[in-house]
Amino acid sequence: MARHIVASTSEIPRGGNKVVDVAGRDIVVFHVNGEFFALLNRCPHEGAPLEKAACVARLTSPEPGIYQRSRVGEMLRCPWHGWEFDMRNGQSWFDPKRVKIRSYPVAVERGEELQKGPYVAETFPVHVEDSYVIVEV
Ligand code: FES
Repeated sequence: MARHIVASTSEIPRGGNKVVDVAGRDIVVFHVNGEFFALLNRCPHEGAPLEKAACVARLTSPEPGIYQRSRVGEMLRCPWHGWEFDMRNGQSWFDPKRVKIRSYPVAVERGEELQKGPYVAETFPVHVEDSYVIVEV
Protein backbone atom coordinates (compact mmCIF):
# COMPACT_ATOMS: atom_id res chain seq x y z
CA MET A 1 0.00 0.00 0.00
CA ALA A 2 1.56 3.31 -1.09
CA ARG A 3 1.81 6.27 1.26
CA HIS A 4 0.21 9.57 0.23
CA ILE A 5 0.65 12.91 1.99
CA VAL A 6 -2.87 14.36 1.89
CA ALA A 7 -2.86 17.36 4.25
CA SER A 8 -1.11 19.14 7.06
CA THR A 9 -2.81 18.59 10.41
CA SER A 10 -3.75 22.29 10.54
CA GLU A 11 -5.82 21.93 7.36
CA ILE A 12 -8.38 19.71 9.10
CA PRO A 13 -9.77 21.35 12.27
CA ARG A 14 -11.12 19.28 15.15
CA GLY A 15 -14.60 18.08 14.21
CA GLY A 16 -13.93 18.84 10.54
CA ASN A 17 -12.97 16.82 7.52
CA LYS A 18 -11.23 17.12 4.19
CA VAL A 19 -11.99 15.26 0.96
CA VAL A 20 -8.94 14.11 -0.98
CA ASP A 21 -8.41 12.26 -4.23
CA VAL A 22 -5.96 9.42 -3.66
CA ALA A 23 -5.16 7.28 -6.68
CA GLY A 24 -8.57 8.08 -8.16
CA ARG A 25 -10.46 7.33 -4.92
CA ASP A 26 -12.63 9.93 -3.22
CA ILE A 27 -11.52 9.68 0.42
CA VAL A 28 -12.68 11.78 3.35
CA VAL A 29 -10.34 12.34 6.30
CA PHE A 30 -11.97 13.23 9.63
CA HIS A 31 -10.32 14.85 12.65
CA VAL A 32 -12.05 13.74 15.84
CA ASN A 33 -10.83 14.02 19.43
CA GLY A 34 -7.24 14.53 18.29
CA GLU A 35 -7.25 11.51 15.94
CA PHE A 36 -7.60 11.24 12.18
CA PHE A 37 -9.70 8.66 10.31
CA ALA A 38 -9.92 8.04 6.57
CA LEU A 39 -12.92 6.48 4.86
CA LEU A 40 -14.17 6.11 1.32
CA ASN A 41 -16.41 9.14 0.80
CA ARG A 42 -19.40 7.06 -0.24
CA CYS A 43 -22.15 5.51 1.85
CA PRO A 44 -22.59 1.80 1.03
CA HIS A 45 -26.38 2.22 1.02
CA GLU A 46 -27.03 4.60 -1.88
CA GLY A 47 -23.77 6.50 -2.20
CA ALA A 48 -24.26 9.65 -0.14
CA PRO A 49 -21.09 11.74 0.33
CA LEU A 50 -19.95 11.02 3.88
CA GLU A 51 -18.21 14.39 4.12
CA LYS A 52 -21.75 15.68 4.84
CA ALA A 53 -22.42 13.07 7.57
CA ALA A 54 -23.02 14.15 11.14
CA CYS A 55 -20.29 13.11 13.58
CA VAL A 56 -22.29 11.87 16.54
CA ALA A 57 -21.73 9.88 19.74
CA ARG A 58 -22.26 6.18 20.21
CA LEU A 59 -25.55 5.79 22.06
CA THR A 60 -26.29 2.64 24.05
CA SER A 61 -28.99 1.65 26.49
CA PRO A 62 -28.21 -0.90 29.22
CA GLU A 63 -31.86 -0.89 30.31
CA PRO A 64 -35.09 0.86 29.33
CA GLY A 65 -35.00 4.57 30.08
CA ILE A 66 -31.21 4.68 30.56
CA TYR A 67 -29.05 6.05 27.75
CA GLN A 68 -25.30 6.33 27.63
CA ARG A 69 -23.22 8.42 25.25
CA SER A 70 -19.65 7.40 24.51
CA ARG A 71 -17.02 7.97 21.82
CA VAL A 72 -18.45 11.40 21.13
CA GLY A 73 -17.99 12.41 17.49
CA GLU A 74 -16.74 8.99 16.32
CA MET A 75 -19.98 7.71 14.80
CA LEU A 76 -21.02 8.89 11.35
CA ARG A 77 -24.71 9.41 10.59
CA CYS A 78 -25.30 9.39 6.84
CA PRO A 79 -26.93 12.60 5.60
CA TRP A 80 -29.42 10.86 3.32
CA HIS A 81 -31.10 8.07 5.33
CA GLY A 82 -29.37 8.10 8.72
CA TRP A 83 -27.43 4.85 8.62
CA GLU A 84 -24.69 5.00 11.24
CA PHE A 85 -21.08 3.84 10.93
CA ASP A 86 -18.11 3.52 13.24
CA MET A 87 -15.50 5.97 12.04
CA ARG A 88 -12.63 3.79 13.36
CA ASN A 89 -13.27 0.86 11.05
CA GLY A 90 -16.22 1.76 8.82
CA GLN A 91 -18.55 -0.87 10.27
CA SER A 92 -22.22 -0.11 10.27
CA TRP A 93 -23.93 0.10 13.61
CA PHE A 94 -27.02 -1.88 12.56
CA ASP A 95 -25.34 -4.73 10.61
CA PRO A 96 -21.61 -4.80 11.44
CA LYS A 97 -20.96 -8.22 9.86
CA ARG A 98 -22.28 -7.35 6.39
CA VAL A 99 -22.23 -3.58 5.85
CA LYS A 100 -19.22 -1.35 6.16
CA ILE A 101 -17.45 1.59 4.60
CA ARG A 102 -13.95 1.03 3.25
CA SER A 103 -11.52 2.52 5.75
CA TYR A 104 -7.82 3.32 5.29
CA PRO A 105 -4.91 3.50 7.73
CA VAL A 106 -3.90 7.03 8.72
CA ALA A 107 -0.64 8.21 10.23
CA VAL A 108 0.44 11.64 11.44
CA GLU A 109 4.15 12.28 11.04
CA ARG A 110 6.40 15.27 11.49
CA GLY A 111 7.61 16.85 8.28
CA GLU A 112 11.22 15.83 8.80
CA GLU A 113 10.14 12.17 9.21
CA LEU A 114 8.51 12.03 5.79
CA GLN A 115 10.28 10.21 3.02
CA LYS A 116 13.07 12.21 1.47
CA GLY A 117 12.94 12.57 -2.27
CA PRO A 118 15.98 12.48 -4.54
CA TYR A 119 15.91 16.34 -4.75
CA VAL A 120 18.68 16.29 -7.33
CA ALA A 121 19.03 19.14 -9.81
CA GLU A 122 20.79 18.59 -13.08
CA THR A 123 24.41 19.70 -12.81
CA PHE A 124 27.09 20.39 -15.38
CA PRO A 125 30.86 20.19 -15.20
CA VAL A 126 32.58 23.55 -14.70
CA HIS A 127 36.26 24.38 -15.04
CA VAL A 128 38.43 27.41 -15.51
CA GLU A 129 40.79 27.91 -18.45
CA ASP A 130 43.01 30.94 -18.12
CA SER A 131 40.54 33.62 -16.86
CA TYR A 132 37.40 32.06 -18.41
CA VAL A 133 34.77 29.87 -16.70
CA ILE A 134 33.81 27.00 -18.98
CA VAL A 135 30.54 25.02 -18.54
CA GLU A 136 30.13 21.73 -20.31
CA VAL A 137 26.62 20.74 -21.37
S1 FES B 1 -27.20 6.71 1.31
FE1 FES B 1 -26.41 6.56 3.30
S2 FES B 1 -28.01 5.75 4.46
FE2 FES B 1 -28.78 5.88 2.46
